Amino acid sequence: MARILKTDPDNPQMEDLEFGAEIIRNGGLVVFPTETVYGLGANAKSADACKKIFIAKERPSDNPLIVHISSLKMLDEVVSHVPENIRPVLEMIWPGPVTLLFPKNNLIPDVVTGGSDLVAVRMPDNKLALGLIETSGVPIAAPSANVSTRPSITASRHAIVELVDKVDLIYDSGNTSYGLESTIIDVSGLKPVLLRSGSKSVEDLRSIFGPIEVTDFARGLAESPVPRAPGMKYRHYAPRKKLILASERQLAEAASKNPEFSGKLAIIGSSEICSNSSIKCLSLGSESDLGEVGRNLFSSFRELEEIVEVAGLVMPFTENGMGLAVMNRIRKASASTVESIEELEKLIFQ
Ligand code: TXA
Ligand code: MG
Repeated sequence: MARILKTDPDNPQMEDLEFGAEIIRNGGLVVFPTETVYGLGANAKSADACKKIFIAKERPSDNPLIVHISSLKMLDEVVSHVPENIRPVLEMIWPGPVTLLFPKNNLIPDVVTGGSDLVAVRMPDNKLALGLIETSGVPIAAPSANVSTRPSITASRHAIVELVDKVDLIYDSGNTSYGLESTIIDVSGLKPVLLRSGSKSVEDLRSIFGPIEVTDFARGLAESPVPRAPGMKYRHYAPRKKLILASERQLAEAASKNPEFSGKLAIIGSSEICSNSSIKCLSLGSESDLGEVGRNLFSSFRELEEIVEVAGLVMPFTENGMGLAVMNRIRKASASTVESIEELEKLIFQ
């Protein structure tokens, strides 16, 4: 059974950090908040400790882990070198929700990178996470803390339910601030390549890195170009109740006003849609605030499991700013897309 420590992520006490650091140094597993989602961490330099992550998460071994650092000095313990043009950029993006791929050095065991010679690294913008890494004295490898294929965890209460008998410690630190995972960019080649949209928008990153192409794969419309990001080929984020994507906003709105779906279907939509809904509706926030929508998305997937008999219908959002990552997660979590009420009825009442 995990020890659960209620800890303020903005003002973590030294004794709470020491407690977690001791577990990390001894090869144990710690669930901790970052600014994006909760992570399930172990000593990144210990192959045995990192193997435990794959077991606890039920994660396929070719799906590599992000290594979290607390200082630029620690970066040099992880990578073989940093491309010259990238060094000045690091202070602009870290600490923050951006993960970069670098050539790894041999202190990082192969189990962390799934055999790849590139390692994914980021410096999280969360005092508890940074304090834990620093106090441990080692980089911490951590995937998102959900069990494989489940929605990522953005609230400590979900971490406790899902992981209490699988890890040594869970920091009970409330909700994360962004709610969507970091943006991943491969900077090891000539041009930066977006591997996963996330909490830092591509528009923001273009002002730092120059042109970045957005592929169908980053939008969640196609599978990963294996082997560049092997882990991304897996099914992701799916709630236990069927999640259906409405092809148009209007369709979600029409369904929300149709009482025949009551009890069977819930809408996951904007506050604008939910305020006029006659069936259960989980509001993600206003359509004009995609950051808020992103923050609430994964929790809404888990809430859906509690409140309906059959399925959830999620509305589409525009793919600007955070909307790109929001739609990527929605597409990956959805079992299907419907284009009409008739199609939806078939899925719900069949
Ligand atoms: O915000 C985040 O990034 C969170 C927090 C905990 O930091 N972490 C996270 O980790 O989302 P995870 O493991 O759930 O997703 C990381 C993705 C995986 O899809 C994996 O395939 C990819 O990063 N990745 C990690 N290392 C890689 C590598 N060496 N090469 C290519 N892709 C890699
Ligand atoms: Mg994940």
